[in-house]
Amino acid sequence: MKTTAIPFFVLLLTACGGEEAQVSASSTPDAPAPIPAEATQIYDTFCTTCHGKTGVGDGAAAVALDPKPRNYQDKAWQASVSDEQLAKTIVEGGPAVGLSSAMPPRADLKDKPDVVAGLVQIIRGFGE
Ligand code: HEC
Repeated sequence: MKTTAIPFFVLLLTACGGEEAQVSASSTPDAPAPIPAEATQIYDTFCTTCHGKTGVGDGAAAVALDPKPRNYQDKAWQASVSDEQLAKTIVEGGPAVGLSSAMPPRADLKDKPDVVAGLVQIIRGFGE
């Protein structure tokens, strides 16, 4: 029922036309929020230094780290952590969740939950 009802709903909204319809359609529970550009930019310029472009933990600065950043492509690990835990690690840093202080906090993102959610989505994306 659900799978047939949603496309019809989206179609109906699209048929009404305009941007308003798109906003309503993208706020359906099944549609993932788009990743904010700021999150992509932060990942590409900052997080990649250690976590690497593909999330395997092979950034240039990772060589000197012990422990090293883990491989985000590891599906078993992905399943073992919650989004909340990842978000907390990003904002408060490694020690806040019992991990290494080599994982720096981004307190500046505390008031930007959409950017933090975007970063979490980027990390989740590596495990897909
Ligand atoms: C200076 C290197 C460095 C940078 C920059 C860095 N990290 Fe990390 N990060 C680490 C290390 C090292 C760990 C693993 C800590 C451990 O296992 O004790 C880690 C762990 C994490 C974890 C927890 C994953 C786990 O192992 O459970 C998340 C989430 C994370 N980083 C996200 C990010 C994001 C997002 C950014 C960019 C905003 C970022 N990190 C920037 C070094 C870094």
